[in-house]
Amino acid sequence: MLTSLPFRSLCIRGTRAGKILTPNSSIVPTCFYSSAKQWSQRQKNDYFVKQAMTNNYRARSAFKLIELNDKHRFLRKGHICVDCGASPGGWSQVASEKVCRKLRPLEKRELSDGYVIAIDLLPINPIPGVHILQKDFTELSTQNTIKNILDKRKVHVVISDMAPSFTGNHAVDHVRIMNLCESALGFAEIILRKGGTFVCKFIMGGTERDFKLLLQSKFSKVYHEKPASSRKESTEGFFVCTGYLGQKKEPVEEYDDDIDYN
Ligand SMILES: C[S@@+](CC[C@H](N)C(=O)[O-])C[C@H]1O[C@@H](n2cnc3c(N)ncnc32)[C@H](O)[C@@H]1O
Repeated sequence: MLTSLPFRSLCIRGTRAGKILTPNSSIVPTCFYSSAKQWSQRQKNDYFVKQAMTNNYRARSAFKLIELNDKHRFLRKGHICVDCGASPGGWSQVASEKVCRKLRPLEKRELSDGYVIAIDLLPINPIPGVHILQKDFTELSTQNTIKNILDKRKVHVVISDMAPSFTGNHAVDHVRIMNLCESALGFAEIILRKGGTFVCKFIMGGTERDFKLLLQSKFSKVYHEKPASSRKESTEGFFVCTGYLGQKKEPVEEYDDDIDYN
């Protein structure tokens, strides 16, 4: 059973001065909506917010992952999935439903049961089948913790819905989210198995084209997606990259016996 959260936690995670916190995008500058009332009215009328409540998902963003996965089928039973930027847990709920064969307590759980590791700066209430880490994903120590959990096993899927706290300055927000995408990709290159899938959210702003080229050099297929559940007015998009080609081997420097190196 998925954990049911009260309606309030689905709609409004909290407010900060001049900002509105949303379930799926951390912070939306209030300039988007003339008032918090207008924003909450839109939430109430939103089809996917209603669907999330009906299906006990913590965030409407769960439907973005459902749509992406329905199209590309990258989450399968027994898979290991790393979910970066996972709070409040909508994507992790979906990932756990799709990959976990058995929902055992954490201490008895095995990677082969299907396993989700969810990382976020913010807390995440427990989700069956999900190993939660409240940490900064970009830190080496966090990535080492994930590697220790994996115990040399490679993962099938890395998903990133990470988003910084938005400033309202689109150029700045674009660069910051692309940095998070690069960080997720860098780690995915280390932990993904050959043939694995990488999914990341970005917001458009120019540099996503270069990032796509980079992805194309590492995966056999790269798709730019805009699921129906992603709001039309949002400039967010998703890259779904399938068929990881594997890590390139570092060239090994060989010593030539005939050269005097001193
Ligand atoms: C759009 S929300 C994720 C929603 C989530 N996928 C869901 O369905 O519930 C983006 C999240 O990225 C997290 N985030 C941003 N930077 C991060 C970082 N460096 N490390 C971990 N999480 C980060 C934020 O704290 C925020 O909760």
